[in-house]
Amino acid sequence: MLKTIRPTVGRVGTFNIYVHAGRRSPAYVQAGRRTLVTATNPKSSPSIPKVPSTLTQSDAASTVNIQTSGVNSKVHGDWVLFHPVYTPEELNAVEVLHREANGFSDKLAASLVKLSRWGYDLVTGYKHKEIPPGKEMSLTELRKEGYVLDDKQWLSRILFLESIAGVPGMVAGTLRHLQSLRLMRRDNGWIHTCLEEAENERMHLMTFMTLRNPSPFFRAMILGAQGVFYNMFFLCYLISPRACHRFVGYLEEEAVITYTRCIKEIEIGRIPEWSDLPAPQIAIDYWRLEPDAKLLDVIYAVRSDETTHRFVNHSLANLDVKNDVNPFALREPDMHVKGKKIAFEREEAESYLNETRQLLQAEAKTEKKVQKH
Ligand SMILES: [Fe+2]
Ligand SMILES: [Fe+2]
Repeated sequence: MLKTIRPTVGRVGTFNIYVHAGRRSPAYVQAGRRTLVTATNPKSSPSIPKVPSTLTQSDAASTVNIQTSGVNSKVHGDWVLFHPVYTPEELNAVEVLHREANGFSDKLAASLVKLSRWGYDLVTGYKHKEIPPGKEMSLTELRKEGYVLDDKQWLSRILFLESIAGVPGMVAGTLRHLQSLRLMRRDNGWIHTCLEEAENERMHLMTFMTLRNPSPFFRAMILGAQGVFYNMFFLCYLISPRACHRFVGYLEEEAVITYTRCIKEIEIGRIPEWSDLPAPQIAIDYWRLEPDAKLLDVIYAVRSDETTHRFVNHSLANLDVKNDVNPFALREPDMHVKGKKIAFEREEAESYLNETRQLLQAEAKTEKKVQKH
């Protein structure tokens, strides 16, 4: 239920932190005013002398050291777009779902995802092999025989997946932004949702990058894949935005399957390297996790994000992409809906939008009454 759409504002250091308790999911956060400090990779600026500088600290835009009562601590500012923070119940509400393809463009989108999956398995050296029933094998034997992946193989798959997953939202956001400028008309609230998805995927990549520094060969593969995929998706979005959102919906179905499998593997002890690994700080900040959170908690949160992408993109693909308003521009259903339902049909999207408008009206009335007293 929407609690409030008014941000509660807390001022911390040089940041204004806006915490939206009710926009979309029970807890969404939005970045407030930022400082002008930006992170720079010193290697990429050879002409700048290598002297200690705030500008060369990779976390300078997000972390501020403060001293309170003689104790040094850190304030982590929020420098990102709206994104969900999940309750434990929401994290467990995710189900693996599939939407049947109806019609030519849906079938084409589903086939392209299958093809992408095949290419993805090929470049990351993955072959799905069922463990023969009744066969007793140690973890080392299972890994050696290729029945289960080790932590490095899992990470390769995740990094590759996330480096590609951040592309569609940015392309869709860019093209809709340019269209809005070109036609001099409103975008109906789609741009933000697309950009939020792109950033959310990039944050997945930044999180997992803290666990490994990929080799030049791996980076070259990602470079090639991005070059091809970005341009292909750009052209396809110009031709059929609806088919592209459907394609992303199917792609996210695969992401949910991958992370569900990963969670299961950790929980049954097949990735012991990760079973007690602490969550990276960037993930604790982003998903507002407990300070002692584990990598497993992060993967649960990532899976919920992928579930959001699955639901949102399949729902957007059910709309008239040229004329319909994005029903998720002001709020999104929580994971109890998104995790158990593959998408809103157009009529459901309309009633959801009407419900949002009624909530906004009720909120405005209450606010007026409070102001009068
Ligand atoms: Fe992702
Ligand atoms: Fe995703």
